[in-house]
Amino acid sequence: MATITEPRRATRRTFQTKLLIDGQWRESLSGRTFETYDPATEELIANVSEGDASDIDLAVKAARKAFDSGPWRKMDARDRGRLMNRLADLIEQNIDELAELETLDNGKPISESRNGDLPLVVDCFRYYAGWADKIHGQTIPVRGKYFCYTKREPIGVAGQIIPWNFPMLMVAWKWGPALAAGCTVVLKPAEQTPLTALRLGELALEAGYPAGVVNIVPGFGETAGAALVAHPGVDKIAFTGEGRTAQIIMKSAADTMKRITFELGGKSPNIVFDDADLDAAIEGAVLGLYLNQGQCCCAGSRLFVQDTVYDKFVDRLAAKVKERKLGDPFDTATEQGPQVDKAQFDKILSYIEKGKAQGARCVAGGERYGDKGFFISPTIFADVKDDMAIACDEIFGPVLSVIKFSDIEEVIQRANTTDFGLAAAVWTRDIGKAHAVADRVRAGTVWVNCYDVFDAAAPFGGFKRSGIGRELGEKALDNYTELKTVTVALD
Ligand code: NAI
Ligand code: MG
Repeated sequence: MATITEPRRATRRTFQTKLLIDGQWRESLSGRTFETYDPATEELIANVSEGDASDIDLAVKAARKAFDSGPWRKMDARDRGRLMNRLADLIEQNIDELAELETLDNGKPISESRNGDLPLVVDCFRYYAGWADKIHGQTIPVRGKYFCYTKREPIGVAGQIIPWNFPMLMVAWKWGPALAAGCTVVLKPAEQTPLTALRLGELALEAGYPAGVVNIVPGFGETAGAALVAHPGVDKIAFTGEGRTAQIIMKSAADTMKRITFELGGKSPNIVFDDADLDAAIEGAVLGLYLNQGQCCCAGSRLFVQDTVYDKFVDRLAAKVKERKLGDPFDTATEQGPQVDKAQFDKILSYIEKGKAQGARCVAGGERYGDKGFFISPTIFADVKDDMAIACDEIFGPVLSVIKFSDIEEVIQRANTTDFGLAAAVWTRDIGKAHAVADRVRAGTVWVNCYDVFDAAAPFGGFKRSGIGRELGEKALDNYTELKTVTVALD
């Protein structure tokens, strides 16, 4: 346990910093720890036990035992659902404290963690609680005197590696379908933001999950993460993060033929036609890019605006963005907090410099905000060309590229000129145009006259290099089940 030194920033003073293995909180075998920081103040929050390959091995063995022979294996599906609802109840009972811990470790504004992330976390667990006893197969009319049926069995031990941008929500997206399906899990939270996952581990024990069903090993990607991917006792890896990391994981997972699902980055097109409700489109452009400090895989980072309204739109957008309130993420009026760490902060500033050097017109922001904490002024580049670095690469920060287009054919083709395919949005009052874009944009999610509308029931994931497989919805259960076909001779 560690103690928060500045009580104003969080009501709960102590929190978990150990590994959760086989129902026990333990120090890492090496005794090493790593530091997690408050990105708003750059101050140390806590030293967290640092898991490596030997701790991963213990955690996988615990998960294996719980899956192969523990009470979990024999538990009725309905009782698995009840456990998940109990966890959701406990999260609701501790919702303010969890939101504060998320804001402390990640830097996201408290209004977002409390009113955005946390309600989605609760909803995700409740949604999958409802699925636990509804995962079933089919009867198949085969030739001959046979009775053939399928059943869906849990895939086994799931290794889950998550990022820092939505630390608790990513736990929910991973645990929800895995636990509903009857898998056991070993979770490796991101090294930047381990604290809320550990708190959820405490709540999972309080809810009554049997030992070994959920295991949590904080640590670094190259050590703990890589060991989880390589471990022969793990049946499946679910990963959210950078494409390059996914490629490393894919190669390593090939050795043991693990099932993999990936949710990776994007450079999502947000397309505004001149017949749109422009006030709504401006709101949507701001939400679509600046939510969570721009640290969203589905950020609408390429804003295509039709030439007939382009200049007016850019002026109004810039005025709106300049009003955004940056500052202490614990202030309920704050709209934008700091970036998660120095590495992300430096990466974003380097892209801002590239945008300027390559000739894009900076109409808002363009520099650091303040002199303490990893804050960056919300930035807009206008007159961005398709081949500029700021139009091609995922920046993962509050930097918006506004691009001019003239007609629908052209914009669809340009929107698709990217290796990514996670999300897209279109703004128009013409229903035919909206559906044409939705039909032809190569992306896993298309929003029409809205942005960042998420629901636990709606699948989410990427075309092309934005991922493999889908999370959320009924679809995500496929990631955690194997299909078994049983054929019975009738005489
Ligand atoms: P990352 O992909 O390195 O980290 C994500 C998770 O993977 C963390 O838990 C990390 O410890 C783990 N990891 C790293 N290397 C690993 C390895 N070799 N084997 C197993 N696990 C490993 O992403 P990072 O470095 O935090 O951010 C870099 C960029 O990735 C960001 O600037 C952003 O562009 C993108 N990103 C995309 C996210 C998304 O939601 N799609 C989330 C986070 C980052
Ligand atoms: Mg990395």
